[in-house]
Amino acid sequence: MTDQTRIPVKPEIAQGASLDAAGFQAMTERARQDPDGFWAEEAKRIAWMKPPTIIKNSSFSGDVQIKWFEDGVLNASVSCLDRHLEERGDQTAIIWEGDDPGTDAKVTYRELHERVCRLANAMKALGVKKGDRVTLYLPMIVEAAVAMLACARIGAVHSIVFGGFSPDSLSTRLVDCESVLLITADEGRRGGRKVALKTNADEALKSAPLVQNVIVVKNTGGDVPMQAGRDHWYHDVTEAAPRECEPEPINAEDPLFILYTSGSTGKPKGVLHTTAGYLLWTAFTHQHVFDYRPGEVYWCTADVGWVTGHSYIVYGPLANGATTVMFEGVPNYPDNSRFWQVVDKHQVNIFYTAPTAIRALMRDGEGPVKKTSRKSIRILGSVGEPINPEAWLWYYRVVGEERCPIVDTWWQTETGGILISPLAAATELKPGSATLPLPGVLPALVDGEGQLLDGATEGNLVILDSWPGMMRTVFRDHERFIQTYFSTFPGKYFTGDGARRDEDGYYWITGRVDDVLNVSGHRMGTAEIESALVAHPKVAEAAVVGMPHDIKGQGIYAYVTLNAGEEPTDALRKELVAWVRKEIGPIASPDAIQWAPGLPKTRSGKIMRRILRKIAANETSALGDTSTLADPTVVEELIENRVG
Ligand code: PRX
Repeated sequence: MTDQTRIPVKPEIAQGASLDAAGFQAMTERARQDPDGFWAEEAKRIAWMKPPTIIKNSSFSGDVQIKWFEDGVLNASVSCLDRHLEERGDQTAIIWEGDDPGTDAKVTYRELHERVCRLANAMKALGVKKGDRVTLYLPMIVEAAVAMLACARIGAVHSIVFGGFSPDSLSTRLVDCESVLLITADEGRRGGRKVALKTNADEALKSAPLVQNVIVVKNTGGDVPMQAGRDHWYHDVTEAAPRECEPEPINAEDPLFILYTSGSTGKPKGVLHTTAGYLLWTAFTHQHVFDYRPGEVYWCTADVGWVTGHSYIVYGPLANGATTVMFEGVPNYPDNSRFWQVVDKHQVNIFYTAPTAIRALMRDGEGPVKKTSRKSIRILGSVGEPINPEAWLWYYRVVGEERCPIVDTWWQTETGGILISPLAAATELKPGSATLPLPGVLPALVDGEGQLLDGATEGNLVILDSWPGMMRTVFRDHERFIQTYFSTFPGKYFTGDGARRDEDGYYWITGRVDDVLNVSGHRMGTAEIESALVAHPKVAEAAVVGMPHDIKGQGIYAYVTLNAGEEPTDALRKELVAWVRKEIGPIASPDAIQWAPGLPKTRSGKIMRRILRKIAANETSALGDTSTLADPTVVEELIENRVG
């Protein structure tokens, strides 16, 4: 298979679609010629309290200011709930599928509205006000969506911390955004195991003194200590609360949420998204990329702890009045047929998952897929990392039986929603390519000096102008926002990704060009893992790089220099892996640790990561220029003792 493999849109997919190929072209053209007019029209997707008269006001230069619909007033929860009540109050909004196959639940729009209002009132009763930050540390249960929307209802800013993160990671995030309230659960469930959320939260709270109250969902019924005055059971506070809550009027540019994500340096950044532009972008993209049609069941397998869960489990689908599935479990529990069993059980029409899951399932062969029907599926989606053509084709042939288009959606926490992707009913596909930009998105490729590259070429992926859904700043650190995204190539938003563009203008994302790893679709900064390692009393220095990994896409390879006198034993290796798990969370566990008596450094003391990456990837025959190394013998030693 080559770049030339093309899969045209099938007539039965295009029929009745919200956007076909001609419609997509016309829309792209309109968005280009008259962006203000186009987005003013699209803004009608939102239920406004006061419609905007100013559409776009942004600059990628100097101070970098990004504003959309700045004089509009709305409440995101009204667009996601209230406005649907008349027409589809009794339609299922959320299908919850538990970790245990025997457990599920359906929540209608009317019920969801009531649950959101009750929690919003309960939060108000605890003193939470508009603009306050509320951290959610929850499993994939309906209460997670309820809590997000309840924050939106009162204008509180939610910050979700993935349930797999350690107490330390949770406390850093609680402290950074000065949360006043934490919403968590006694325990979570994943793959038949319990996750000790409340215990972790208690540990985190020891160093987060600003948190005044904790609301705890009784989920497993596990025995957890409750601190009088601080901890409140979710069912107690919500049962006591009124079932109607007036939505707070929110300015279009008021924050909706903060989500921490990793960069190449330093601690995770609080990516800040505001209300109207984000909501519009998630609704717009959810409808057109997946060709969502009223009445369809849509399932995104992500966790709400990541941006994919925010945009494509909660905000986008609910703004569109969709039925969205929330899955608490994992693809291989109780067995590796689970995804497809859930698809059949709930008659899922649109299925959206990550390449890492596809590769893991592919390893187990076709059997577990073939024993299910999957006839309900119309559209397949992929997100989070580059999908290799082999996995793409397996997904297409085995899962979708060559019936369903695959939308390979490229985007980032920062972009709020999908930027480069096929539209299910409009775009000819090429396996492994994220294809074309959405209307209103202006990607470009630049060389190392920031020169724009034309035609079929490869380079650094930048975006030339703002789109409604993009992040507005790093929470309380606008300087870092400018530095991270707009300083490498001044005047352009730098994604951190590399990409190739072919003769048809199709984009092929090649992966990160900075020190950010993508492990099973989870984004991690090498600096974070390094600082966790050097925090260990026996470690003097550490350098972390990515290495190719069949299932995870990238694995974590750590070079560790021990303090003088420390023995490099297998036991210590295990101890360090456990240490990183404890410091950051299981997703950050190193796959390989190599003892490094020395690291390859330039004479000015800078670690040459390029060399470390090559050794980790076992590409030691092409190390490139090593003449600037202070001590070239270090490299030979490292090659000789490579792990794996
Ligand atoms: O490298 C790109 C990769 O994931 C990064 C963004 O990670 P995160 O902010 O955690 O958001 C993940 C979910 C949107 C990007 O910089 N990435 C995401 N989707 C794709 C991708 N790489 C290739 N193809 C994709 N479809």
